[in-house]
Amino acid sequence: ASRERARILEMNRAAARFFHECLISPQGKEGLAYFEQRGLSMHTIRSFGLGYAPDGWNHLLGYLQQQGFRPEELAAGALALRGRNGGYYDAFRHRVMFPIIDLRGNVVAFGGRVLDDSKPKYLNSNDTPAFHKSKCLFALNFAKNSGGRSLILCEGYMDAIALHQAGFRNAVATLGTALTPEQVRLMARYAKEVVISYDADKAGQNASQRAIGLLTQAGLAVRVLRIEGGKDPDEFIRTHGADRFRMLLEHSGNHIEYRLASALQKYNVDITEQKAAYLKEAVEILATVESMVERDVYAGKLAETLGVSKENVLADAAALRAKRQ
Ligand code: UTP
Ligand code: MN
Ligand code: MN
Ligand code: MN
Ligand code: MN
Repeated sequence: ASRERARILEMNRAAARFFHECLISPQGKEGLAYFEQRGLSMHTIRSFGLGYAPDGWNHLLGYLQQQGFRPEELAAGALALRGRNGGYYDAFRHRVMFPIIDLRGNVVAFGGRVLDDSKPKYLNSNDTPAFHKSKCLFALNFAKNSGGRSLILCEGYMDAIALHQAGFRNAVATLGTALTPEQVRLMARYAKEVVISYDADKAGQNASQRAIGLLTQAGLAVRVLRIEGGKDPDEFIRTHGADRFRMLLEHSGNHIEYRLASALQKYNVDITEQKAAYLKEAVEILATVESMVERDVYAGKLAETLGVSKENVLADAAALRAKRQ
């Protein structure tokens, strides 16, 4: 199995080279224009080894066969698919390509994006003996050397790349699946803190809540960056620039503040009953905080903004904790 894995990695490396060569050849001009239109520099394109998979059924197949790889091997590496007639064809066609690189620098898989609005927007390699999607994070190979003990976690390839290009070299992205415990463990090896920077939409907010749970369980400090005035980090940086993003980053609150603020959005606290309902939910959030002094800080803020007694908030939270022991 390790021979099969090594063979797939060798093949993926050749494929990545092929896609990149295509991108910078006349054949790839649409792909290159796409990346340029999205604001990527040639330097970024080269560093991430971005590429283009030509339109057609067997460009990569032909190239890799010349290099001595059999169609069955391409299929085992998720680079080719097998048709009903038994023939093989390229899995990625007319897409810009993102190589997924593991911590040892191996190209383990690819993501491919359409150049327009057609669906599916992104295709990712299926799992192979060399690739387990749930155990990989895009750009962690770069981010692990970024120096700090903090990582920025975002949703998409383009978010991570835009962040790196803007100088945030500690950005990583999940690969289109919900965050997994394996990915969390991987981050915990390199970081003490994770700043969640998911999309501003409802899906991103829900995913943030879920990620908070997984990351805090692993003992990581967690902050949440809210994208305001854009739908995701990539778009935000394109619109407002890196300095504004740095401000969001510096002002991103820890996950308790985030949860208190998200809960608040559901209530109109000018109405007595709703204020009480919010406080009940807020107390439940506070009850998850281990440290008494931390609880004190949040309770103080709550009490101030809602005009209630801090002591009562703290007492309720402590009672709830006691009940749960
Ligand atoms: P998004 O829909 O937020 O896309 O999906 P995006 O990253 O902002 O894409 P752009 O900016 O339009 O290029 C976030 C991530 O989810 C995965 C991809 O990894 C994507 O980067 N995804 C998305 C898929 O795997 N398949 C899809 O069809 C869409
Ligand atoms: Mn395996
Ligand atoms: Mn999204
Ligand atoms: Mn985007
Ligand atoms: Mn997005």
